[in-house]
Amino acid sequence: MTRKLFVTTALPYANAAFHIGHIMEYIQADTWVRFQRMQGHEVHFVCADDAHGAPIMIAAEKAGLTPQQFVAGIAAGRKPYLDGFHIGFDNWHSTDAPENHELARSIYLALRANELIDVKTVEQFYDPQKGMFLPDRFIKGECPNCGARDQYGDNCENCGAVYAPTELRNPYSALSGARPELRSSEHFFFRLSDPRCVEFLEHWTQDGRLQSEVANKVKEWFKRDVDGRSGLGDWDISREAPYFGIEIPDAPGKYFYVWLDAPVGYLASLKNLFDRLGIDFDAYLADPALEQIHFIGKDIVTFHTLFWPAMLKFSGRKVPDRVYVHGFLTVSGEKMSKSRGTGISPLRYLELGLDAEWLRYYIAAKLNDRVEDLDFNPEDFCARVNADLVGKYINIASRAAGFLAKRFDGQLAADLGVEGRVLIDGLRAQADAVRALYEGREYGKALREVMLLADRVNEFVDRHKPWELAKRPGMDAALHDVCSVCIEAFRILTLYLKPVLPALASRVEAFLQIAPLQWADAARAMGHHRIGLYQHLMQRVDPKQVDALFEPAVAETAAPALPGGEAIAGEIGIADFAKVDLRIARIVAAAHVEGSTKLLRLSLDAGEGRLRNVFSGIASAHKPEALVGRLTVLVANLAPRKMKFGVSEGMVLAASHADEKAQPGIFLLEPGAGAEPGLRVR
Ligand code: MSP
Ligand code: ZN
Repeated sequence: MTRKLFVTTALPYANAAFHIGHIMEYIQADTWVRFQRMQGHEVHFVCADDAHGAPIMIAAEKAGLTPQQFVAGIAAGRKPYLDGFHIGFDNWHSTDAPENHELARSIYLALRANELIDVKTVEQFYDPQKGMFLPDRFIKGECPNCGARDQYGDNCENCGAVYAPTELRNPYSALSGARPELRSSEHFFFRLSDPRCVEFLEHWTQDGRLQSEVANKVKEWFKRDVDGRSGLGDWDISREAPYFGIEIPDAPGKYFYVWLDAPVGYLASLKNLFDRLGIDFDAYLADPALEQIHFIGKDIVTFHTLFWPAMLKFSGRKVPDRVYVHGFLTVSGEKMSKSRGTGISPLRYLELGLDAEWLRYYIAAKLNDRVEDLDFNPEDFCARVNADLVGKYINIASRAAGFLAKRFDGQLAADLGVEGRVLIDGLRAQADAVRALYEGREYGKALREVMLLADRVNEFVDRHKPWELAKRPGMDAALHDVCSVCIEAFRILTLYLKPVLPALASRVEAFLQIAPLQWADAARAMGHHRIGLYQHLMQRVDPKQVDALFEPAVAETAAPALPGGEAIAGEIGIADFAKVDLRIARIVAAAHVEGSTKLLRLSLDAGEGRLRNVFSGIASAHKPEALVGRLTVLVANLAPRKMKFGVSEGMVLAASHADEKAQPGIFLLEPGAGAEPGLRVR
């Protein structure tokens, strides 16, 4: 029976380019989708940018753009990644598109009609200077536990304490530096604690549709207290203007919290696709046979297993059939930060000429159906690609194709010989097993199985030694059989690898002169068939290329004789630059640091109503007393750094030669006349 599948990946925040973790998620889902299509199933596979929320609004403002312009810029950069890694989404949309505004409102109105929306008064920090309520991550202050300065509103990076933003000592707005005030406003809540929701979710999350480890985790959130009340709290779904989001019907100045409309974006992207294709969106979703499947990472499970299914259920819509949760990709054992990504950029990978399918293969080889983190390790990457993919699989074709072309005009033998037939039958017999592994997202096991089959083929080749048969007179028929077996085996292995290696498979299809491989073709033989000329199918990885991936990006064209002896750094976008908050600061005091010949201790006024302590390595060229009263430029949002002499709260800008030893001198920057402390440098 043909399955109808609606498949999505999580919608990435439209505040930055993709990092390698995003690409990993897309590779996992894309492989599954390609596999399903090879079964003849109907799949619609969509994604979109998650455009809304305070962080994006603030990033846009800092970049001097409207939020719409800002997210459009991010959206414009998506294609090279998706095409480059052969991610075959049918549609890429945005949660700020009209379809999403409309769907989110209609879901909300249905929930309200169902008496699941409450209004409650909430007290929150408000930035009087910015005129807005502050999200937790934009409130900073001293940790109530250890007293560390400049800690975020929800937890302390120094001692790990978790607290409410209202508990911070000397809180300040990370946006303006102003002291926030508590203000109350009315918020809308989705009544998740309603017995209908609790009952539905207890069933939906525990009926076997989720991975068992996910179901168990979710169960903890249902823990009932002594009164028998559910542990599920109501969910705050509104935010006050100014906010980049969707306005709540009948509530001017109030917006849906980004996580309310984000998953609705799955539907909006599908609707946008269907409107273009002329498919009836409502009829499609109403089909009981339709399976709705979301691929997501482990950090966003709550949203997808509680809020989202409940929103759909109680607005009278279809609920998800599966939520497939994966772990996180680490790089050389290091966690990557959500905001910074890691040292390896997916785009750089492509620009360096590394084959996208090496990464697809490597990631697939490490994936299973559990919520386990997986590591990108450069040596392991080279070994798997070179030893397995190229060494075991590609080699089979290159060993046989030359003889077939030269000696038999590309014509395959009709009869493969007894041993050959046994080998091929053995390969075919694994079709169901490999299918089950792909279906269950056990890609690692599937690829191991395929490599074991490739081992069998290589053993066959080593036993029959076509290169010797070719030299012996009268052995033409044997040579023909052996090479034909290799090519048939290669076709079957290619079929098994095709969900992971679509571009390679299509090169193989062209070389073999066959129609695009479907899973059912495993059982069919090419028979009396003529193949095309062998062309190089896949390169080995040069470990040097992988090394280059880890080197800091430096403009490749830079001439060695640039002033200062330093090449221009890799290109950045305006949004990257906007992340650096440069401010004019007045040097109020300056002094030598005992125990250091290089450092001066500076007290800086950056217009914040407090002084900053900054250590700067400018002692060789500047006398402290000559600096007092001067203006300079401060990197104001640099994370504070603990040094031997105390904490440095920023950095002042100075110019120097690349090789300070050879050409000493470090020159403090100074703004033109009229600049004042606190002004932003842009
Ligand atoms: N915008 C939300 C999702 C909304 S879905 C309606 C979001 N965006 S995200 O850009 O932060 O993350 C997008 C996806 O990437 C999530 O599934 C997340 O788990 C995944 N990953 C983020 N970092 C990752 C790794 N290091 N490794 C693998 N996946 C990772 O969350
Ligand atoms: Zn602390």
